[in-house]
Formats: sequence, C-alpha cells, structure tokens
Amino acid sequence: MDIRKAYLDFFASKGHEITPSSPLVPDDATLLFTNAGMVPFKSIFTGEIPRPNPPRKTSCQTCIRAGGKHNDLDNVGYTARHHTFFEMLGNFSFGDYFKEQAISYAWEFVTQILKLPKDKLYVTVHQDDDEAFEIWQKHIEKERIYKFGDKDNFWQMGDTGPCGPCSEIFYDQGAENFNSDEDYMGGDGDRFLEIWNLVFMQYERSADGTLSPLPKPSIDTGMGLERVMAIKEGKFSNFDSSLFMPIIDEISKLCKKEYIYESGASFRVIADHIRSSVFLLTQGTNFDKEGRGYVLRRILRRALRHGYLLGFKKPFMYKLVDIVCHLMGDHYTYLNEKKEFVKEQIRLEEERFLSTIENGIEIFNEELKNTQEIFSGEVAFKLYDTYGFPLDLTQDMLREKNLKVDEEKFETLMQEQKDRAKASWKGSGSKNASGDFKILLEKFGENEFVGYEKIECETKILALLDENFKEISSLKGKGWVMLEKTPFYATSGGQSADVGFLDDCEVLDTQKFFGLNLSFVNASKELKINDVIKAKIDFEKREQIARHHSATHLLHHALREILGSHVSQAGSLVEFNKLRFDFTHPKALSKEELECIEKRVNEMIILSSDAVLETMSLDEAKKSGAIALFNEKYQDNVRVLTLGESKELCGGTHVLNTAQIGSFYIVKESGVSAGIRRIEAVVSKAALKFVKNQLDEIAKAKEELKNNDILNGVKKLKNEIITLKEELKNSNKAELKSKNINGVQICVESIQNGDIKAMIDDFKNKFSKAVILLAQVKEGKVLLAAGVKEAPLKAGVLVKEAAQILGGNGGGRDDFATAGGKDTTKLDEALKQSLDHIEKAIQC
Ligand code: SER
Repeated sequence: MDIRKAYLDFFASKGHEITPSSPLVPDDATLLFTNAGMVPFKSIFTGEIPRPNPPRKTSCQTCIRAGGKHNDLDNVGYTARHHTFFEMLGNFSFGDYFKEQAISYAWEFVTQILKLPKDKLYVTVHQDDDEAFEIWQKHIEKERIYKFGDKDNFWQMGDTGPCGPCSEIFYDQGAENFNSDEDYMGGDGDRFLEIWNLVFMQYERSADGTLSPLPKPSIDTGMGLERVMAIKEGKFSNFDSSLFMPIIDEISKLCKKEYIYESGASFRVIADHIRSSVFLLTQGTNFDKEGRGYVLRRILRRALRHGYLLGFKKPFMYKLVDIVCHLMGDHYTYLNEKKEFVKEQIRLEEERFLSTIENGIEIFNEELKNTQEIFSGEVAFKLYDTYGFPLDLTQDMLREKNLKVDEEKFETLMQEQKDRAKASWKGSGSKNASGDFKILLEKFGENEFVGYEKIECETKILALLDENFKEISSLKGKGWVMLEKTPFYATSGGQSADVGFLDDCEVLDTQKFFGLNLSFVNASKELKINDVIKAKIDFEKREQIARHHSATHLLHHALREILGSHVSQAGSLVEFNKLRFDFTHPKALSKEELECIEKRVNEMIILSSDAVLETMSLDEAKKSGAIALFNEKYQDNVRVLTLGESKELCGGTHVLNTAQIGSFYIVKESGVSAGIRRIEAVVSKAALKFVKNQLDEIAKAKEELKNNDILNGVKKLKNEIITLKEELKNSNKAELKSKNINGVQICVESIQNGDIKAMIDDFKNKFSKAVILLAQVKEGKVLLAAGVKEAPLKAGVLVKEAAQILGGNGGGRDDFATAGGKDTTKLDEALKQSLDHIEKAIQC
C-alpha cells in the first residue's frame, strides 16, 4: 500500500489542499530543523499571515529531530521507532474544523483506509480535555480512552510558538509479542505504539512562557509514516519495514556480516543516519564546525563510528546514497538530481574522520581502563578538539558501557577555548548595545528605506548614537545616524553598503541593527536630532555595486546551467569593484568550465534584457520557479528579480538592463571549504580596469622581451635557456686538471662556469681515490667546495682552511663540504696552500 498517497488522497477528498514538503531548514530562526509537519504553517496558525483558501491543507513533510527541542539522535538504533529523519503525514485546519472533525477524519482513515482492527486501537486525551474525551466516545469504548497530563498530551513546536493539548492514537502490537513490565498504556514498553498525534492548537507560547490564545483554534495532526508502514507490513520495528530493510541489506552486503536484530544497532544507526545525511546535503546543509552543518557532521560521524564497529575502515557511507535515492527518489525527485554531489561530500567527510578515528578510539579505550563511573572531561575534550569526536559520539560510546562523561569539565574546557579564541580575535565593532537599539525601535519603529527609487532625499534625523551605540543628542565627528527615511542601502545579502553624504558630512558605512538602518558618518558640522538634512548616496559607487550584484545572479544561473542544478549559493560579497560568489560544487572547476561560464555570463549581458522586479508572496515566488536560498530567512512578501533567464529572490539593488553590466571577467577560482568553491569576478568599470592592467602587463612584457609577439619571444627565451643549460652541463663535464700522487687523484682549481658541486661528484665517481677542492667566484664572493674519497684528508677541514684565508668560514662532512670566502684577491694563495696541504698529507 502506498501510504503517502493514500493519506494525501484521503484528505484531498475532504477538501484539503495537498502541499509539498517544505525544506528541512525552516524559514524560522527559532528552530534548527523542521521537526514536525506543522512548522511550515506556523505563521498561519499564529495569524501573522492570512488564512489560506481553502483553510485546510495536507502534507507529507520531511522532518529532522536531531538537536533542538525534539532531539532523538541518542536513541536512534537502540529503539524500534526513533529516527533522526522521518516523514510526517499531516492534516491541518486553520480556524476551520476543530476537534470533532479532526477526530472523525482520523478514525475514518485509520479504520477504513488503513483498515487497522478496531480492537487493537486505543486513544489518549489530555486530562483536562473533557470535550475530546466525549467526542472519542462516539467512536471507541470509554475503557480504551486514557487521560494523561502535559508530559504526554500537550504538544508544542519549540520553546515558543503554537501549541495545545493533544490526543494520540495507539496501536496494540499484542501481549504475545511484548510483555515487559513497561508494556501497558502509558508505559515505556513497545507494545502500545503511538501512531498519530492530533494537536488541538489553541495557544501560542511566548519567550517568557506565557500562553496566549491563537486567533482561531486550529488543528495540526502528525502521523509517522515509518511506524504505520511497519504496522501495515506486520513488523515490530520501523527498521524491519521496506523503508529501511533495503538499506540494511546493502550495509550487510558491504561489510559481509549478517544483520541480526538483537545485535544490529549499528546497522540501524547507519540506515537511519544515511537518510538524514542525504536529505540534508541535497537541501543545501553541508558539514561544518557549527550550527546545522555541525549537527549533520555529528550524525555522519556517529554512523561512521558504528561502521567502524562493523569493520569498515574505509569510506562506505557514500556507497549507500544510491539505495536511498532509489527508495525515495520517486517521491523526492531532487534526490536523484544531486546524487553525485552528495556522494562526493559524504566520501570527503568520511575520509576526514576516518583519518583520526582509529587514534581517537585508541585514546578512548585507554582512558576507559582508568574509568570507574565518570569518563574524563579532559579526554572527551581532547577527542573532540583533536580527533573530531563530537561530545555526543563519546557519550554514545560510553552509553554502551553504562558510563557517563564529566560534561561539566568538558563544557569548561570548551568555554575556555572559546574565550581564548575571542581574546585573540582582532575584530572591532562588537555591537553589544542592543539595549539602545531596542529603545530606538520602540520609539520610532524601523526606519524607511527609500533607496530603491531615490538616490537622494530630504529627511529628518531621528536619533544619533556615538561610536559605542549610546544615544546622544548631537554629533560632531564619528557616530551613527538614524534617518527618518534613508536612501542608504545597509550591508545585507552580501551587498556592501552605500556611502555618500548627509549635507556635507561624509557617510562612511551603513548597517542594519535589529531592523534599524543606521549610517556611520564623519560629521564635519554638528548634527542634531530633528535636523532636516539632504541625504545623498554616492551614485557612481551604487551603480557599480548594482552591476556586480546583477552579475552574481547571471553567474549563479550560468553555474547551474553548466555545472548542474546541485549548485546552490553558499555566500556572496558584492562590492563596487569586485564580486565574490561561493557555491556548492564538489571539485575545482576546469579551465574549460570557467571559460564556458564566463562566456555564458557575457552572452546574457549582451542580450540586453530588461530587469523585471516584482513583489509577491514567498509561496508565489517559489511557485514561479524563482531561486530561493534554503538557509535564508525571507519576509512573507519578497522581491523577485528576473534578469534574462535568471530569476531569484533578492532584496538588493540592481541594473535596469543587463547591458549595463558591460562585461564580465573571472579573476580567480578557489576552494573555500569542503564542497564549496569560490569565483571572484569583475564587471563594468572594474572589468575595464582589469583588462587594462592585463594589457599593460602584456605591453611591459613585449618591451622586456623586445618582441611584439610575446609567445614567440617567450619560446625563444625558453630555447635559449635550454641551450645554456646544455652548455653548462658540458662545461661541468670539461676535463679538470688533476694529478695522481700515490694512487690518489688530486685536483685544486678555480672554475669560472658550471656547477662545482656537480663537478666534485663527477670527479669522485671517476676515481677510486680522490681529493678535490674547487673554487668559484660569484658576485664578488668565493664559493668553495671539496670532496674526499678514500684518502687521509677531511673535506670539511680543507674548505675551512681555505675559507679562513679568504676571510670566510665553513665546513661540513668528511667526504663533502662547502664554504664561502670574501676576499677574492687571496684566492690564488688559498688554493696554493690547499694544494700543498693535500700533497703533503698524501705523500706521508
Ligand atoms: N505537531 C504534532 C507532532 O509533531 C502533530 O503533528 O507530533
């Protein structure tokens, strides 16, 4: 049975609009990941955005519960039903139907579509929810309805947000299969399995914990696909269902070990974690040292350590990407599009961790020997810091031994490290005066940005702040100004700030703090609150910035077209004289690829397409195919910029027509971090300057080469070098004057050209017994080198004595040594003395 389809079709037949799954990284700063089906609809529940029409929706939402309020990471593998990644089927009513209808729909679906036997079903309600208790009795006997408190029957999305009492449907997997002391309704055993949670959304919890009623009571339900699938397939663990077994079989094949449920936690961990890794990577989260990327790293490293237990010593997780895409790619088509990229990222991360895991595990085992109850926080920190073991991985390893880590010590060391990093941070401008910003916000609200339409305006000074963001009543010198209306664009979305003038006072920077647009000025005259002044941006700079910004859109489009749709923006910087664009791509770009991208962007420029700017709802924008960044937080109404074939959500300032960009040159391509590449480029006047510099360099090269044909000139030079090298080699081979005394070949000479060290080697190779000392004058200094083979002399002593006569020093091994001298006039004397010394030594 295709449960996803059955569910969505059922609720569509009840007037619900089917909504595709939203990204795992939600448009909500209070959450790390989308952790429930209702997350994308939060603003509708709270009334921030209007109710949709129809006011009911249904979805199959991908969710991650690893970090944040709902974190299941530690349990995964050890229980039958915890996952870091799962799919939640849900139906939602936004102030439309409420408890009665929600319960009746759920009952109909469970009993008539899923056809679960009624005598196996139980439900729970909140202990104070008499209404739900009454309604359920229309469907199920009173004895099968249990009442529980907040812990079990009150649901909230995070520390803040919509919430309410809930009612859950349970499936009894049979006393014959589960009979521990915990196998009763409300117990911790596996016999009674919760399959569906109906939340009666009535409140919104604010940061201080208070509950306020939602504008309209609503419904949010969530049914775990994995659990229902397992029940329908008659399995007692989600991992035994057809969603996971093909992955487990593949792991088994790769490690050549049989999967046995009782001892198979490692198989289950890997099967679960590869799913979250694939989904997160395809949606733009990549391995990182912090934030969401670090959660992803923790997930993968936890799996790798379990892989290690199964005997994997080389990357293997990336080999599981195919099976995940095969199982889920029909429903989530983007998986197949990014498959190769995901494999590469996982393989690279595996290599990074596998290079340290062995040593880390050795250190862990060593410390284990000294551990009674609490594992050392210092060692856990060392494992984290040096061997890349996230703390929860160490904890996971200890859990198997029933041990705990000294978390307090770990945290102290972590904090100390952070403090050290902070202390060594040379940056300035710590904006810690949020108190004053908040006062300004309350007093004036956010000030208006008029800079899309205007480059100058008359406006009033609302507030002034000193360099430390303290409110002041007048300003002379440097400080921040809040204008009632401002044409100055504040740095955001990678676009750098406008500069310009407030009357005659120079504006050096513009930044946004808590929604306030503030300009940093160097006031040459006294500025006072309520002064009306003329604000004027440096239009030439703004134009240049706009040209570079528009070019990043064209570049983004060209990258996706040429390299593939796995490319997504990972950061950008737009300035008046350059642009920088970071994007996901597994390897360095070839010369051909770069040429192709540069050419494509220039083609789009030449097409002279008018820029089309529209404002629309985020939903409409996404539907229109506009590129939005997975990790970016957007307002409900967004600006969509169409430039030729490129269409992106963007709040920046742009050209009116692509032709204004002029021309585009890639200056550099480089790597930023694993899987992230960077292109730096210039357009317009900066491009002219770039090309002019290149031409100047070429002119200088011609001049230097005395040849207008640079290539030919360089070729000639190269040939000359080859010839000279050849000559040099031959001169090395030139016969040295030498004589034989008592079977030892002796040579003491001054050499003009050639490599004297190589000559010494040659000489020693030629004779079975040899003593040689050569000198060479170069740039006013004497280079000495000596070699001794099977003779009663030391090369180190020979060069030292000669060097001393020449006012220098040196020495070395007995068989070979070099030295330097300064006084070239004494060279003959030095050589003569050396020869005497050698002859005497050999004659005796
Ligand atoms: N939000 C509730 C849950 O996640 C129901 O969808 O359980």
